Amino acid sequence: VKAVILSRRRTLYTTRRLAEECRRAGICARVLDPFKCVLAVRHERPAILYGGRALKGVDLVIPRVGTFGAAYALAVLRQFDLLGVPCFNGPAAIARARDKLGCLQILARRGVPIPDTLIAHGPRRMDELIRELGGAPLILKLLSGTQGAGVAYADSAAAAASFVEALWALGQDVLMQKFIEESRGIDRRLIVCRGEVVAAMQRMARPGEFRSNIHRGGMGVEIQPSRQEQRLAIRAVRGVGLQWAGVDMLVSASGPKIIEVNASAGLWGIEAATQQNVARRVVEAARLFARRPAEAEEA
Ligand SMILES: Nc1ncnc2c1ncn2[C@@H]1O[C@H](COP(=O)(O)OP(=O)(O)OP(=O)(O)O)[C@@H](O)[C@H]1O
Ligand SMILES: [Mg+2]
Repeated sequence: VKAVILSRRRTLYTTRRLAEECRRAGICARVLDPFKCVLAVRHERPAILYGGRALKGVDLVIPRVGTFGAAYALAVLRQFDLLGVPCFNGPAAIARARDKLGCLQILARRGVPIPDTLIAHGPRRMDELIRELGGAPLILKLLSGTQGAGVAYADSAAAAASFVEALWALGQDVLMQKFIEESRGIDRRLIVCRGEVVAAMQRMARPGEFRSNIHRGGMGVEIQPSRQEQRLAIRAVRGVGLQWAGVDMLVSASGPKIIEVNASAGLWGIEAATQQNVARRVVEAARLFARRPAEAEEA
């Protein structure tokens, strides 16, 4: 098998781990920078040029699409798809997952529990919106944003209103969400790979912080997720159409609530917390997928 790991930098932890585990599994893996890919878009002999040469004989792509330059990276991935190369996370599914609001709508449609969420194209009467959500405290989220940046906590209706109005004044839409108080800075991250939960951790925010992201100093410990949590995570990932993903959920008084499906989940936090070789599980699943991509997406 000849694989391509599409990633901005080979030194990034997850990229490096995936490349390492590919090699260990006898897969010849090359890390390619999507920004250096030249796309020959034509109806006959479409191609991807890299270093002046057309890529040939690639049987699998594992994409890592970050925040920066995502549009071009997705175009490159679509080109691989166009060339008939199985993408372990296809471009359409990644695009869906990157759309926070669209993702919540997909989950809602599938009956996957999520925190009560409201979005309005401002300016609108904030008191009505806050009442609709059952009052403060609220979580406010920018539609783009990553690793906890772009997520704010408003402890009062006044704080929420002034924050949201400031964003509306800038022409920014903002998502308002019921603050799941019981979760107290704790969330759970499950890694789902081809319909199976392969690793899970609980993350605890550092003192004084409500966001439990590892990149915000959150601490992870391995957990055994409940059957229900596993079922919901798998359903969420399937709903978005991803082959593998990191699913974030909060433990609320009324059961788990999914807050996010990450199409380019990092493996550093979860491998450190669980002491498990999660990269190997991903690569094994990717190899099986490369053999039989038929049952996969793409719309
Ligand atoms: N409704 C909520 N109630 C309580 N805590 C929340 C809520 N939504 C988010 N959080 C906390 O904030 C953290 C960050 O939120 P979220 O995962 O939505 O954004 P993000 O991590 O910035 O997004 P991305 O993963 O796309 O980078 C969560 O891990 C969780 O700890
Ligand atoms: Mg998150």
